[in-house]
Amino acid sequence: MGTALLDGFLRKPNLPRGAALQLAACVRSKGSVERLQQHLGDRADRVELGHGDDAVRLTERAHMILLGCRPQDLGSMLSTANLPQTFAGKTVVSMLAGLSCQQISGEIASKGGPDDATVVRVMPSIGAMYNSSVSLIAGPNSDAQEVAEEIFAQVGTTLPVSEDLLNKGTAVGAVGHALALHAVDAMTDASVAEGVPRDIAASLAQQYLRSASSCMENGLTPEQLKAALSTPKGITLNAAVQLEKGGARIAIIDATRGAIQYAESM
Ligand SMILES: NC(=O)c1ccc[n+]([C@@H]2O[C@H](COP(=O)([O-])OP(=O)(O)OC[C@H]3O[C@@H](n4cnc5c(N)ncnc54)[C@H](OP(=O)(O)O)[C@@H]3O)[C@@H](O)[C@H]2O)c1
Repeated sequence: MGTALLDGFLRKPNLPRGAALQLAACVRSKGSVERLQQHLGDRADRVELGHGDDAVRLTERAHMILLGCRPQDLGSMLSTANLPQTFAGKTVVSMLAGLSCQQISGEIASKGGPDDATVVRVMPSIGAMYNSSVSLIAGPNSDAQEVAEEIFAQVGTTLPVSEDLLNKGTAVGAVGHALALHAVDAMTDASVAEGVPRDIAASLAQQYLRSASSCMENGLTPEQLKAALSTPKGITLNAAVQLEKGGARIAIIDATRGAIQYAESM
C-alpha cells in the first residue's frame, strides 16, 4: 500500500495551498529499498528512502508520520531505538487495519514515545496508485484530521467517518474490490467465449462498470438506473434477471455481511 501511495503522491506533489510535499519512506529491509528504487525508476530521487534505523532520522524531520506496516508488526517497528520519541508534537497517521487510535497511541507511549500522540486513522484504497483512492479518515482531533484529509485528497477522494465505522467501511471497500475484479474477469471470459477478442472484452467490461457506477455517483439511484435501462424484453433487464437467478444478489449480501463481521472481530 505504501508503494501505491508513493505513486499517487508523486503524480500530485503539490498541496492546494501550493506547499510542496516532501516525501520520505522507510521500510524494514535493504532488499525492499532496492525493490522500491527499481519501482520508482527516475522518480526515486524525489523520495528519501531508508530502512531499519534510518526511520529515526527520517521521522525527526517529518511533520506527519504515516504508519504503513502490518498491524502485527507495529510493536517491533516501534521498538526501533529512539523512534517513538521522534513522534512528539507530530500527527501520526495510521493505516493499520483493526487498530484503534487509542491502541496506537497507547503502544507509542508504552515504547517510550509521547503519552499524548495525536493519532488519525486513514484507510486508503489501492486506487491511490492512480489517484483514485477512496480514503476513509477518522480521528479524535479535528485539526490533525483536516491535515490528513488535505494530504490524502492528493491521491483520490476522502471520506471522514466516525472511528466506529472505519472497520465496517474498510470491509465494504474490500467487497467492492472483490466484486469488481470478479465481474470484470467473468464478463471478459464469457465475452471471449462468445467471440469477442480478449483485449476488447476486458476493456468493455471495465468501462461499462465505470459508466454505470458514475451514473450512481452523480445521483441516480440503482432503481432509477434500472428504470432507465428497462425497455420491455430488453437485454439489460434480462441480464439482471439472470444474475438474480444465479444467486448474485444473495452472494453479494452474504459476502458484505461476512466481511463486516470479520472486520469487526479483528
Ligand atoms: N493492501 C491494501 O490494500 C491496504 C489498504 C489499506 C490499508 N492497508 C494497511 O496497510 C498496512 C500495510 O499493508 P500492505 O499490504 O502494504 O503490507 P506489506 O506489503 O507487507 O507492507 C508492509 C511494509 O511495512 C514495512 N515494515 C514492516 N516492519 C517494519 C519496520 N520495523 N520498520 C520499517 N518498515 C517496516 C515492510 O518492510 P519490508 O518490505 O522491508 O519488510 C513493508 O514495506 C496494513 O496495516 C494494512 O492494514 C492495506
